Amino acid sequence: MKKAVQWIAENHAQRINDLAELVAIPSISTDGEHQREIDACADLVARQMQEAGLQNVDLLRSHGSNPYVYGEWLGAPGKPTVFLYSHYDVQPINYEAKWLSPPWTLTARDGRLYGRGAADDKGAITAHLGAIAGFLKTIGELPVNVKMVVEGEEEIGSKNLDGFFHEHKEKLKSDVIVVCDTDNIEVGTPCITYSLRGIVAVLVEVESATRPVHSGQAGGALADSAIALSVILSRLYGKDGRLPPELEDKAHVRKIDPALRRTIKKLGFDPEKFRRDAGVLPGVQLANRKNVDVRQQTWRLPSANVIALEASSIKHASNQILPKAQAIVSCRIVPDQDPQEVLKNLQELLSKDPPWNVRVNVSPLGAPVKWWITDPKGPAFDAAMKALKAGYGTKPLAIGCGGSIGFVGPLSELFDDAPALLLGIEDPQTNAHAPNESLHEDDFRKLTISLAHLFTNLSKLSDVKAPSSKKEPKTVAEEAPASSSTETPASAETETSRPASE
Ligand code: BES
Ligand code: ZN
Repeated sequence: MKKAVQWIAENHAQRINDLAELVAIPSISTDGEHQREIDACADLVARQMQEAGLQNVDLLRSHGSNPYVYGEWLGAPGKPTVFLYSHYDVQPINYEAKWLSPPWTLTARDGRLYGRGAADDKGAITAHLGAIAGFLKTIGELPVNVKMVVEGEEEIGSKNLDGFFHEHKEKLKSDVIVVCDTDNIEVGTPCITYSLRGIVAVLVEVESATRPVHSGQAGGALADSAIALSVILSRLYGKDGRLPPELEDKAHVRKIDPALRRTIKKLGFDPEKFRRDAGVLPGVQLANRKNVDVRQQTWRLPSANVIALEASSIKHASNQILPKAQAIVSCRIVPDQDPQEVLKNLQELLSKDPPWNVRVNVSPLGAPVKWWITDPKGPAFDAAMKALKAGYGTKPLAIGCGGSIGFVGPLSELFDDAPALLLGIEDPQTNAHAPNESLHEDDFRKLTISLAHLFTNLSKLSDVKAPSSKKEPKTVAEEAPASSSTETPASAETETSRPASE
């Protein structure tokens, strides 16, 4: 263990070079226009896996998917098998002018490493391989078995991942899942995420005519598709921060346990810091519900956002009535919402009673992703908490996450309820998916060291999936929420319908 940690410390500069190589490839999956870069990045990941000492490295595909890069080390018979997941695909660059350094050149500035994918999620590839190499380059063996998969379609909803997992079920079968693709609550504070929101998205198309018409001839007579779309989208706006009932109050949102509320309160929340981190303009109010903490809002309440809106460009505007307007509405969903029911409700909400009876078509976009929640207790979580404590020198926290990682729940089930350990890699200054995405360099080093500790801690467990012992280590007992299965209806300001149903 000592040797692995020492190796990681001494080879930090080389790890940064490895990450820089990954960041240099614009492996954008969202536009279908970067297939060469996707393939080149998969090749590079395979090479880096081999260099770290993984065996049987291979590029696997499923139904024409982007390559899944696979590598393994299975030289610890009788020890747990750890499944390491990360993704090499990244978001595109919009708002290019806002980048302070070139997005595809990893650039160190003020203790952070800037570049698209540096944190989400290429940093995780480098952290996983750093921890593996720490052992294989020194003592020549790992304390656990490792199966590592690096995906190239995470940013487009992992549409082939479920098929891939089922096709290769035996090959991939593991005892515990480790993912580094979520947040730490602050720089220097290591976190394990125990809940994720799901996601349901639709394309809304509004049409009033077959072609644009001069607004002097027809203005006031011809239905304006952009105004009609705006009226329709306004149904998503609630003055008190609530969504319409069909998406929230009547939509099986699980009541939040008072213990979780207390835990969230104890974490403390600085609205001014949140405003700074999120770049909120002075005077603009936050959109969360009154009396609901931002963390509670983003971890455990649904949201609806317009993530794209088109009618005509300002640059090419002329005095025309626009015949067609469209938008993408993306909803984050939470326990116990049913993705299909949310989809149906969303479609009904957006297509009913259109202004001027314009044509409205609301179609699903991508496969709905379910939310995920677990009880962060048991030997695997204890092992992770201890590992993070050792790596960061700070008490770790168990937190929720407002983002989505669709495969976590289904894969855990496929592996007979293998625990899923989501270790944070991003922080409030990371700007994932946005300009100036960055990774905190020292936290990245600490994460790599924590992973090495995690391998060692897991190797000492005879049964990774054993139920939690009564004697919880303080870090878990103090910060973890009540078990999801024992969540009880909350009083006070929390809302909604039926009791916990898991
Ligand atoms: N790393 C994110 C997940 C995440 C989001 C973690 C926010 C922490 C905070 C991941 O790469 C991602 O962006 N996932 C997508 C999933 C979607 C395409 C199904 C997301 O959340 O939008
Ligand atoms: Zn990610």
